[in-house]
Amino acid sequence: MAVGIFDSGLGGLTVLDAVSKGLPEVPFVYFGDNSHAPYGVRDADDVYNLTCKAVERLWDEGCDLVILACNTASAAALRRMQESWIPTDKRVLGVFVPLIEAMTERQWGDNSPPREVAVEHVALFATPATVRSRAFQRELAFRAIGVDVEAQACGGLVDAIEDGDMILAEALVRSHVDALLRKMPDPEAAILGCTHYPLMQDIFQDALGANVKVYSQANLVADSLADYLKRHPAMIGTGTESGFLTTGDPEKVSRHATQFLRRKISFTQA
Ligand code: DGL
Repeated sequence: MAVGIFDSGLGGLTVLDAVSKGLPEVPFVYFGDNSHAPYGVRDADDVYNLTCKAVERLWDEGCDLVILACNTASAAALRRMQESWIPTDKRVLGVFVPLIEAMTERQWGDNSPPREVAVEHVALFATPATVRSRAFQRELAFRAIGVDVEAQACGGLVDAIEDGDMILAEALVRSHVDALLRKMPDPEAAILGCTHYPLMQDIFQDALGANVKVYSQANLVADSLADYLKRHPAMIGTGTESGFLTTGDPEKVSRHATQFLRRKISFTQA
């Protein structure tokens, strides 16, 4: 039994960390498409083709259920995959919905009509492709009314994190937060809509100020996955081994992953 976790690069490790703490008995196979990151500057067809290839590789590892721990792939490819590509015995799930449900204080699967919620002004930080897709706004509109979302495409940030250049990453976070606050001076909440960004969560919080509630996905996805597996135990596939696969340079990717998660991580070539 194993579950696949996919990201364009290192960002999905923030999700992997939370899901493996929440479900210690489940083996997870991580796939980082580091040689093609960042996805956030690619067009939707490109993201779709790369994501399908990675998911197929995880199926080969015995992971019948794959979590796209990547907002860009969830925004640009997931619906198309679910509509026409995924075989009936496999599942691919994205990472937006648990976050939107937490922000709108809804229970899993609550299909009642949209209603007013506690927040009115929300800052969204995400990749250019995710911002362009408007997928967050769409999911939010299904559940909440009267919420004003101001989105900031954080160009360059994923590249800096993938390169381990944390000084550049911090400068980019501060300038993207400044740009957002010029458009929306008093957000009540901020969404880190890219799984790489929780690696910079303290800087986002510092730049936004203590009054802004910052939502990131890892723990919310972990809770949703635990709930999903309780309801669909057969979706834990046939794989038995945990592992880390990358399309990039395993030595470099392992070094950065170990630095981010503060525990030894060893990637092998996908
Ligand atoms: N971590 C990914 C996301 O959540 C992808 C970032 C990228 O490759 O641009 O959007």
